Amino acid sequence: MRPDITAFFDDATHTISYVVRDPEGSACAIVDSVLDFDYSSGRTDTKSADAVIAFVNEHGLDVQWLLETHVHADHLSAAPYLQEALGGKIGIGDRIQVVQDTFGKVFNEGSEFQRDGSQFDRLFKEGDSFHIGQMRADVLHTPGHTPACLTYVIGDAAFVGDTLFMPDFGTARCDFPGGSSSELYDSVQKILALPDETRIFVGHDYKAPGREDFAWETTVAAQKAGNVHVGGNASKSTFVEMRDRRDATLAMPKLIIPSLQVNMRAGQMPPADDDGKVFLKVPVNGL
Ligand SMILES: [Fe+2]
Repeated sequence: MRPDITAFFDDATHTISYVVRDPEGSACAIVDSVLDFDYSSGRTDTKSADAVIAFVNEHGLDVQWLLETHVHADHLSAAPYLQEALGGKIGIGDRIQVVQDTFGKVFNEGSEFQRDGSQFDRLFKEGDSFHIGQMRADVLHTPGHTPACLTYVIGDAAFVGDTLFMPDFGTARCDFPGGSSSELYDSVQKILALPDETRIFVGHDYKAPGREDFAWETTVAAQKAGNVHVGGNASKSTFVEMRDRRDATLAMPKLIIPSLQVNMRAGQMPPADDDGKVFLKVPVNGL
């Protein structure tokens, strides 16, 4: 089964959202949507999400799932906004509970913040499968970038989130709380064990030295042969050493503080205060 896949690239955060459609019907899923957020003004915008809604409506699609590969730290999810407009169930990995526990503490969330993943409609674990119309989707637990990261294998396509990037860019950082370069290496091996011709769709692209255009689609074979971090049978010890050394030099993503507070709530803002106003916190020296 070869799903029809349409990509939406967000210039502000270099995120790629996908509409994955059953080629034999109108059923589809939306993977990793974006709610635009301007941190300087505290304002949200729905331009990116509205482009997805327009596409879905134009093609008469039936949105069955709003899939998150993980709790993103660099953009806010538009899943609740899309759900309101289009329907569909919001799914994420069941280890979200670990992420909610970690960041519930970082942001000193009170007891009203549930850490059981109940904000989401479905919690997936390794080996789960579900359907998008007639298409079967399989879930791989691929931790390392975060503890809850998933890869969704839908027909011949794998949505790997931030586990692998394009071959010339490599892999994602593993230094967020709960991340692990050793686990990421093992997760990558799981993805590379899929058939060579499997199409891989990455969660971000930042170009790479010598490349002019953004890109997001590759294959298992191309990753095995040429991924600059894990290709050519790179050993685990070499990878871990490289990844940890590189991560120590990286700045935090610009939107990590708002993103975590919103995304750990399945894309909902924190509850409004008594005056109906919504605030996000900044933990000083807490991250
Ligand atoms: Fe991420």
